[in-house]
Amino acid sequence: LKEIPLFSGLTEKQLLLLKEIVHIRQFKEGELLFLEGESPDAFYIVKTGGVDIIRGAPGGKEIILERMKAGDFFGEMAIIEENKRSATARIAKDVRLFVIEKRLFIKFIKDNPEIVIKMIAELSRRLRIANQDIEDLAFYDVEKRLKRLLLRLADVDAKKGEGIIHNKVTHREMAKYIGTSRETVTRLLHKLKKNKMIKLAGNKIILYSPEKW
Ligand code: CMP
Repeated sequence: LKEIPLFSGLTEKQLLLLKEIVHIRQFKEGELLFLEGESPDAFYIVKTGGVDIIRGAPGGKEIILERMKAGDFFGEMAIIEENKRSATARIAKDVRLFVIEKRLFIKFIKDNPEIVIKMIAELSRRLRIANQDIEDLAFYDVEKRLKRLLLRLADVDAKKGEGIIHNKVTHREMAKYIGTSRETVTRLLHKLKKNKMIKLAGNKIILYSPEKW
C-alpha cells in the first residue's frame, strides 16, 4: 500500500489503520465494475491491471476518458460530491483492485487530511487534461488530436529524440480516446508512418523527433 502514490506519505500507524479497511478484489477483462448514474458504494485503487473510465452515448458509441493503471485511484467523485457515478468503469486488463467501502473511505480521508491534498493535486491534473481535451475538440482536427494522444501515451527519450508507446493500445481504443472511428485512426497512423513520423513495431509505436511535432 505504501507504494501507492496517494498513500506514500503515511506513517506506519496510518498504514496499519488503512490495511484494516482495504480489501483486494479481482476482476476479469471486460467486466463492468460500475455504471454511470449508479449510486457509489466504494473507492478504488488499481493494484495491477487496467480500468477504463468511459462515457457512452445511445447507440453504443463511447469515449474513453482515462485508463487507470497501477497506483491510480478512481470512484472518489460520486462519494465526495454525494452524487451518482459520473462515468462507467470497465476492466480493460485483468485487475486486482484495492477497494475501500464508501463510509470507511470518508472517515479515513477526514482523519487524514494530507490524503485530501494529494487527491486535489491529482484531480487538478485531471482537470488540466480535460481542459486540453476541450481545446483539442474545439480547435483541432482529428489528425492533430491523434498526434496529441500519441504524445500523451509515449515515454519520450529526449537524448535519442524518440518517443515509445510500450503498451499495446488498439486502434479502436485510440479512436475512443479522441472521438473518432477506428478506420480514421488506422488511416491516419499509416499516413504518419508514410511521413516518417512514426514506426509501427509489433506491440510498440515509435515516435520520431516528438519535440518537433
Ligand atoms: P465517480 O464519479 O465516483 O465514478 C467515475 C470515476 O471516474 C470518477 O469518480 C473519477 O474517479 C473518474 N473520472 C471521471 N471523469 C474523469 C476524467 N475526465 N478523467 C479521469 N478520471 C475521471
